[in-house]
Amino acid sequence: MVPLNGPKIRLTRPVTGPEELEAVREVFESGHLAQGPRARAFERAIEQRCAARHAVATSSCTTALHLALAALGVGPGDEVAVADFTFPATANAVIQQGAAVVPVDIDPDTYAMDPADLERRITPRTKAVIVVDPLGSPADHAAIAAIARAHNLRTIDDAATAIGGECRGSLIGANAHSDITCFSFHARKVITTGEGGALTTNDDTLAETCRTLRAHGGVRVENRFRFEHAGFNYRLSDIQAAIGLVQLERLDDILAARRERSLALSDRLAPLAEAAGVRLPADPPWGRHLYQSYVVRLPDRADRDAVIRRLAALGIESTIGTYAVHAEPIYARLCGTQPGDRPASWRARRSCLTLPMHPGLTDADLDTIAAGLADALAQQDIP
Ligand SMILES: Cc1ncc(COP(=O)(O)O)c(C=O)c1O
Repeated sequence: MVPLNGPKIRLTRPVTGPEELEAVREVFESGHLAQGPRARAFERAIEQRCAARHAVATSSCTTALHLALAALGVGPGDEVAVADFTFPATANAVIQQGAAVVPVDIDPDTYAMDPADLERRITPRTKAVIVVDPLGSPADHAAIAAIARAHNLRTIDDAATAIGGECRGSLIGANAHSDITCFSFHARKVITTGEGGALTTNDDTLAETCRTLRAHGGVRVENRFRFEHAGFNYRLSDIQAAIGLVQLERLDDILAARRERSLALSDRLAPLAEAAGVRLPADPPWGRHLYQSYVVRLPDRADRDAVIRRLAALGIESTIGTYAVHAEPIYARLCGTQPGDRPASWRARRSCLTLPMHPGLTDADLDTIAAGLADALAQQDIP
């Protein structure tokens, strides 16, 4: 039972093949390794896939978020409402820009920002809202946008996990309800460039500002740059972009495979869900779950961390769902919050569990995961 060389069933595995290697080889032959023609081609491919006017490739989703905030003019003295149940990079970008984070609680069923809590947290200093598509499931962007419009707020969609998703019939990244959408191509995401990201927007000025800030803040004049801003170096290399171009072609197949494997795992977990009160991931009312992560919520009486340890002993890698920003020490200090001040997010932080999910999982792997979770809960007399 005890694995000899780390977990037998890994949380995730990128879907790559010889096509990515060939694309990288071509970049090396071209001699153009930094941001160049492949990065531009990758941006055009994202624009087409997401039905967006502009895409700007970046070195990560975190840097895309930072560019977005800077381009929207967010800075010291401003507050930014941030969905609380997220990887803290979402909030960190706000701090990097000198603004204050205001954590907003989530809906307990979809884990997406709760519009009613957003409404409560808006103050005269609120400048923008960062909505998160949690774990590959779209947030209700239309509901958030209606509130943002009423209060004159700018909206950013942190779609790190949600490329290829839809909300109420519009593509994530088409910005039907956001000013800017940010994607991640980190190796744990649906498609990957190793590290990498992109933002999309339909606003010509925002796109231009993001492009300028991405490359040190210089505007090209004849044979040199004139520096209008103190910008960043947030570029994506052509090596990464070449991988991204191949990955983007695989996106629909990968999403279909993830969905098929996720529903097959849910079938196996259904009896446990029924008997033990484990909450399985499901489509939100306004769109489809992409299952970038397969996250279950354990009953409150379960010791989630003991479940993670037991699964590890059985050779199954697992981890927490994600973080509750308000409860992380830095944000507790900055926001004056105590763990539990955003109750739905805190509950999700304590009781959610990410199980392995990727297209390479076999039926036997799914059986092992379901049996492993049942075993781990049985050790705690659940059910
Ligand atoms: C919701 C969310 N936002 C931002 C990030 C950061 O993405 P990156 O690693 O591309 O900077 C992540 C990464 O896990 C994420 O899940």
